[in-house]
Amino acid sequence: MRRLLFLFLVFLPVSALAEPVGNPKIGQQLVEKSCIRCHAAMYGGNGSGIYTRPDRMVHNLKQLEARVALCNANTNTGWLPDEERDVVAFLNQQYYHFKQ
Ligand code: HEC
Repeated sequence: MRRLLFLFLVFLPVSALAEPVGNPKIGQQLVEKSCIRCHAAMYGGNGSGIYTRPDRMVHNLKQLEARVALCNANTNTGWLPDEERDVVAFLNQQYYHFKQ
C-alpha cells in the first residue's frame, strides 16, 4: 500500500504538468473554417502550399505555435489557447512533422 502511495505521489505531478497535446481532428476543422481563404488566394488549391513551400517561415514547434497565435490574433478568429493547440497539432501532424 505504501508503495502504491509512493508511486502515486511521484507520478501525479508529472502528469499534471505535462502539456496537454492538441486534438488534430478539431484543429483541421478550425483551419478549414478560418484559415484557408488567404493562404489559398496566395498559393492556390486548398492553400496548404504555404506550409510546404521550400522557403517556409516556420522551422520548429515554437515558431509554429507563435505563427498560429499571430494569425489567430491578426484575423480576429478568437480561438482560445486550447483551440490554438488543436490547430498546432493538426498542422504539425499534416505538414510540418516536428518532434513534440
Ligand atoms: C488575412 C490573411 C490570412 C489569414 C486569414 C490567415 N493567414 Fe496565415 N498567413 C498569411 C500570410 C500572408 C502568411 C505568410 C507570410 C509570409 O510569407 O511572409 C501566412 C503564413 C502562415 C503560416 C506560416 C507558413 C510557413 O511559412 O511555414 C502559418 C502556420 C499560418 N499562416 C497559419 C494560419 C492560421 C492557423 C490561420 C487561421 C487563423 C491563418 N494562418 C489565417 C495570411 C493569412
